[in-house]
Amino acid sequence: SKELIHKLEQTIQNIPDFPQPGIQFKDITPIFLNPKLYEEVIEDLANFSRGKVDAVCGIESRGYLFGIAIAVALEVPFILIRKKGKLPPPFVSEKYNLEYGTSEIEMREGQLKPGQRILIHDDLLATGGTTEAAARLVEKQGGIVSEFSFLIGLKDLNGAERLKKFNAEVYTVLEY
Ligand code: PRP
Ligand code: MG
Repeated sequence: SKELIHKLEQTIQNIPDFPQPGIQFKDITPIFLNPKLYEEVIEDLANFSRGKVDAVCGIESRGYLFGIAIAVALEVPFILIRKKGKLPPPFVSEKYNLEYGTSEIEMREGQLKPGQRILIHDDLLATGGTTEAAARLVEKQGGIVSEFSFLIGLKDLNGAERLKKFNAEVYTVLEY
């Protein structure tokens, strides 16, 4: 809603030139100082996916901040997607490209059941590289990527364009 967007705009802090010159960092940590506002965010994100998904996948680490609460609100399982090297075997992994070099994400094998409709959640959609890798990881295990949700979308980086090939709905609570 307009009201929620307005409250979030008042709460999220813009930090210029962090972590690199030219980057406008969005600091979401003040949201967690305000439990009522946090609840409203979860309700908004859960409402988007209610009745449409069988499980939620959240991406380490900021994707956990809202992802677990969304899954609890929807009464569906939450599956952690972790960065390389954190999970014991057996796990499945997916490589992706960063601005410099490559990275890898992983999920415990067998937690996602073939045919499940999956919500992939993260706090931020920037270039979409991380989310795209998460979607490939979900599909690798026979999951159906049915929705993507984010607290924030950065319009200029065109992340949504990169997610089009998955034919899933994309929701962002607010955009910059
Ligand atoms: C940030 C953010 C998203 C990702 C978005 O995570 O939380 O996960 O980058 O970027 P992209 O759309 O260009 O892929 P980061 O890797 O900084 O780690 P963190 O969540 O552990 O803070
Ligand atoms: Mg992240």
